[in-house]
Amino acid sequence: MGDATMSMVASAPGKCILFGEHAVVYGQPAVAVAIEQRLTVAMTPAASWSVDGSPLSDKKHPHIVMLKDALMAENSPMSMHISGDIPNASGLGSSAALSAAVGAAMHHIATEHDSLDKDRLSALAHLAEAHAQNGRASPMDASTSVEGGVVILSNEREQRGDWLYTRRLETPEGERTWEVHSLSAAADDIYLVLGNTGVHAPTSHQVAMVAKALAAEPQRMQEIEAIGIVARRGIDALIRGDYEAVGHAMSENHLLLRNLGVSSPELEDLIQAAAPSSLGVKLTGAGGGGCMVALTRDPKTTGQAIELAGGRVLISRLGNPGVRIDE
Ligand code: PMV
Repeated sequence: MGDATMSMVASAPGKCILFGEHAVVYGQPAVAVAIEQRLTVAMTPAASWSVDGSPLSDKKHPHIVMLKDALMAENSPMSMHISGDIPNASGLGSSAALSAAVGAAMHHIATEHDSLDKDRLSALAHLAEAHAQNGRASPMDASTSVEGGVVILSNEREQRGDWLYTRRLETPEGERTWEVHSLSAAADDIYLVLGNTGVHAPTSHQVAMVAKALAAEPQRMQEIEAIGIVARRGIDALIRGDYEAVGHAMSENHLLLRNLGVSSPELEDLIQAAAPSSLGVKLTGAGGGGCMVALTRDPKTTGQAIELAGGRVLISRLGNPGVRIDE
């Protein structure tokens, strides 16, 4: 099956969460956008499976092993070279971008140029994420990386946005379900400026910290519900193209996240530096470190302010393409 002599290059974008991180774990809506920064995989036929010169191993490359077994079990070995500009372990979805790009390239080789089935590919990329994260992963990163644009996740079908599919996953805590939607939003003069603190805080630790706080004080679930209300307001503003209101909702979302205890001094420094030149500013992803995001019409000034405060800067527009075959 498949063409053993075929080489293939595929790429997929990273993502940035605009609204709803942490609250999405409790069923509230969340919004992620595909960023300009991409991960590229080049695959060529070889004598044995390898990644950047090292033998393929489940310990080092769990996403790739899972995808190979699902898509290329009957194909000849390939050597893979990975490149790109998404920083690792910073909440920008580099591992989902890896799964999406590798999955697309493998599907294309195994089927000899069949067109990409995005539903199947994002389901596989989600399973690869879950395989690498002990069975716990939302489909947010995988779907945003595969679909591109803007993706909404919720525990119910939302009126806002186009419903794409339902995702189910058996987690150690039982079955979980997500409704995945896409939203068209693009603006020429609006930029996301991402500031990386360089501090790594594992998502699992941050999620466990919130769970502990809610178990100790169940009335704090109101804070989670408040994030959901702000996220819905942000989605409406995105649909209207009212970026002042989008920014306002982002900043409000940040205050709620900070109260929840998932910010950090490094994030607060970058956020404070970016705020004067931004429409809105917040941490993005699990927090505790990782990245913040500013929505701005003046990316140069915002980027310089973040750099002066010690952050590493990436700039992206909204509305970037999802996974694609490049060669
Ligand atoms: O930091 P990231 O990109 O892994 O985002 C985590 C988002 C959370 O809502 C905190 C966790 C989740 O599974 O949705």
